[in-house]
Amino acid sequence: MPSKQRVFSSPMIKKATIDQIFETARIEEVVGDFVALKQRGVNRIGLCPFHNEKTPSFTVSPVKGIYKCFGCGQGGNSINFVMEHEKYSYPEALRYVAKKYSIDIEEDELTDEEVQQQSERESQLLVLNYAKEYYVKNLLETEEGKAIGLSYFKERGVSDEMIEKFELGYSLDTWDGFTKSALEKGYKLEYLQKAGLTTEEKAIDRFKGRMIFPIHNYSGKVLGFGGRILKNEAKAAKYINSPETEIYEKRKVLYGIYFSKKAIILEDNCYIVEGYTDVISLHQIGVENVVSSSGTALTVDQIRLVKRITKNITILFDGDAAGIKASFKGIDLILQEDMNVKIVLFPDGQDPDSYARSVDPDEFKQFITENARDFISFKTGLLMDEADNDPVKKTALVREIVQTIAVIPDAISRSVYIQECSKLLGISEQLLINELNKLRKRNASKQRNADAGYDEVAPLDYIKGHPSEVGGARQEPIAGNAEPQERDVIRYLLSYGLEKIVFPEEKSDGDLKEAQEGEEIEIEVAKFIVEEIANDDLNFDHPLYNTVFTEYKKLVKKNKTPSQEFFLQYEDRKVASLAVDLIFSPHELSENWEERHKIVVSSEAQSLKNAVERTVYSFKMAKVKQMLLEKREALKELEDGKTRDDLLQEHYNLEEAKKLISKYLGRVLSPN
Ligand code: CTP
Ligand code: MN
Repeated sequence: MPSKQRVFSSPMIKKATIDQIFETARIEEVVGDFVALKQRGVNRIGLCPFHNEKTPSFTVSPVKGIYKCFGCGQGGNSINFVMEHEKYSYPEALRYVAKKYSIDIEEDELTDEEVQQQSERESQLLVLNYAKEYYVKNLLETEEGKAIGLSYFKERGVSDEMIEKFELGYSLDTWDGFTKSALEKGYKLEYLQKAGLTTEEKAIDRFKGRMIFPIHNYSGKVLGFGGRILKNEAKAAKYINSPETEIYEKRKVLYGIYFSKKAIILEDNCYIVEGYTDVISLHQIGVENVVSSSGTALTVDQIRLVKRITKNITILFDGDAAGIKASFKGIDLILQEDMNVKIVLFPDGQDPDSYARSVDPDEFKQFITENARDFISFKTGLLMDEADNDPVKKTALVREIVQTIAVIPDAISRSVYIQECSKLLGISEQLLINELNKLRKRNASKQRNADAGYDEVAPLDYIKGHPSEVGGARQEPIAGNAEPQERDVIRYLLSYGLEKIVFPEEKSDGDLKEAQEGEEIEIEVAKFIVEEIANDDLNFDHPLYNTVFTEYKKLVKKNKTPSQEFFLQYEDRKVASLAVDLIFSPHELSENWEERHKIVVSSEAQSLKNAVERTVYSFKMAKVKQMLLEKREALKELEDGKTRDDLLQEHYNLEEAKKLISKYLGRVLSPN
């Protein structure tokens, strides 16, 4: 294995350990922990955990060590699966799989700076974890905790199970009980303060005589706390929360996400409520797909956190309705992310928490289903009531509604909303569309300015005609686009790079003579392809193909042809997904798999040499055509100092090259 693989650029886990993890992990076992799989030919299939489906299109290939969903396009190796399913980072996923197979993790030495950063974060996390345990202990084991804290939860009807699940606690009514205890345990004051647990000025406890709600991140680590006062006193704040810290970035956190992610994926819907207590009460009655924005407006980061697991959000509003209009801006952000938003308004004076405790669970669920209203019609209705048929107000209202519709990226959704609003408002669709187009034009030019340098890529959609979200990039079609030929070259490199093909020896003048015994050269497919293309100094326009080819070029030069695994394990997901897409070719998974597989075998493997040559020459032909087109354009323009004669000469050379390639192609295009 080559030494300088990008795959292994993770600063911590040793390359040897990573190798071992990849070698040990069985894709069907890793996936099998989350998805029920059934044997189907050489593959296994199941219901895709990444999108809602009734018939399985999620396919696992134990032989190749990869999975691919032909419904939603998700695909990758074991590590990718864990990253995607558990929303883990690359190192987190490696650690998860290592643990599953009891592989000891060896770590690389970190640079001083890395050690510093690492230990800063880790120290704070350790301190926070200690604090969590301390508050839990106070609640369950001290007299004060039991008498005051526990009885408070009991009074509110919070079950023991929920107290345990959400790791609820109590902070004693002392000035520095926690700080002292933590210092005694050896935690440094510096970290207590950095984590927001001990105040900077007087070095005393932040939380004093309060009910404690730990705030967990996506993977269950405690980042901070909310502390609720016991009595509803007017003079003290109802909640004191951890401050914004290096690791508690409030705009990126949703309370409850760790406990709710599984249910959110299963229900394919995320309820958003205002408070900590709402989340807990809903869990208690078995409604577990719920998170809290902690009383503040939703941020884009929070919305994207949800978007990783569902495209549907339902906002549950308290009955008092005061905050509803204020939240409209945040809701536009959800639409802008191309997600669906519904609204549920609770009865007057009720919030999700109190309502959940006042009715039985089925009634609660039914209430939500019956009262969930589409956001745009909800907003229209609300503003209509306000406008009260005043024509001036109504004009403003139309503009406001259309502005909301205008942020939706999907054209079909937009037109559905236009129809709906036209009915609700009693205004013609055409009028709304005119207004919408005006706004979208304005937004688009704003967006263009803001997005200069934006490099998000369009998804691959050539696999079975399905868009592949995790797939690589496809460029805008350009004149003389060589993308299909580029893709074929990469596919052959990945599928057959390590196989050998045999050529008759070449005479010095470059002409091929008929093969004679003892005069054959055996060459690796990858080496042949790379040399053919590199010698002609040809490039790949497609950035991902280019990355793959560059790796081949680099490694083949050192006589180290990379294996499929090299790319399947590539740290850049886009490259790994591309490899999956190309290796997991659609032939294999179409219905008449067996049959078509035979055809592939006979046409590609048996006459591999022929196919490889055809691929390379077709690629060259496409490139030459591309260059010819460019020359012709240049001849029309005649710019940048070149004379007409230069260009004509170059054009002539290219035409000659084209003829030559045609000749080669003719030879390899013979039926096989
Ligand atoms: N909040 C806050 N600081 C406050 C008030 C509220 O941070 N002074 C946040 C908390 O995250 C709280 C949420 O806003 O959970 C919603 O507020 P509220 O409905 O008042 O609190 P609940 O948690 O629902 O508490 P309770 O049901 O006990 O009144
Ligand atoms: Mn509340």
